[in-house]
Amino acid sequence: MKGIIFTEFLEMVEETFGLEVTEQIIEESTLPSEGVYTSVGTYDFNEMVSLLTQLSENVDIPANKLLHTFGLYLFDSLGKAHPEVIKSFNSPIALLMSIEDHIHVHVKKLYPDAELPTFTIVEQSDTSLSIIYASSRGLYSLAQGLMEKCFIHFNSSAHISHELLKEDGTQVKFDIVQHG
Ligand code: HEM
Repeated sequence: MKGIIFTEFLEMVEETFGLEVTEQIIEESTLPSEGVYTSVGTYDFNEMVSLLTQLSENVDIPANKLLHTFGLYLFDSLGKAHPEVIKSFNSPIALLMSIEDHIHVHVKKLYPDAELPTFTIVEQSDTSLSIIYASSRGLYSLAQGLMEKCFIHFNSSAHISHELLKEDGTQVKFDIVQHG
């Protein structure tokens, strides 16, 4: 998993829950990297699982709720790191439809060792989209937060519902309906 995900995660934790909680979860997690991340580095996904699990226990909030909050935060972080990518779209649906064939393809060129999910479009219109998220990491709540913030970014809004196609969250269908 790319370092930018770790650095932004820890930044969100510090802003939301404070420095003490941040230091505590780093202390309590199993981290071969010792909790030191650079945005261009690559680290074991298990370190994120460990940090998230410790945070969930410390603040007594379910991991998926925390991932959703992190998704809302991360959209702006990715936008700041790669403004040209976001700027090339003029609507949230157009952006979401391009994650698989453009955005993440570009990401893979920049970071060949990035571990990305796949998004398969099953239905689309100008104002709606059904898309299937698939990833062995099961970070569908992160995806939901990213998608919601995408609409906010374009001063729009949408109803986004999800259905687990696999119980462990490695395959999830999203139904997105824009209404503003
Ligand atoms: C990873 C979804 C837009 C760059 C991920 C992951 C998800 C995701 C869920 C976690 C990996 C996994 O689930 O297996 C989305 C969605 C987007 C979006 C829903 C749009 C709303 C972007 C944009 C960029 C970007 C605009 C930057 C230009 C990355 C990077 C990773 C990533 C760098 C980390 C890869 C790794 O850890 O190795 N994306 N993404 N994404 N995405 Fe996206």
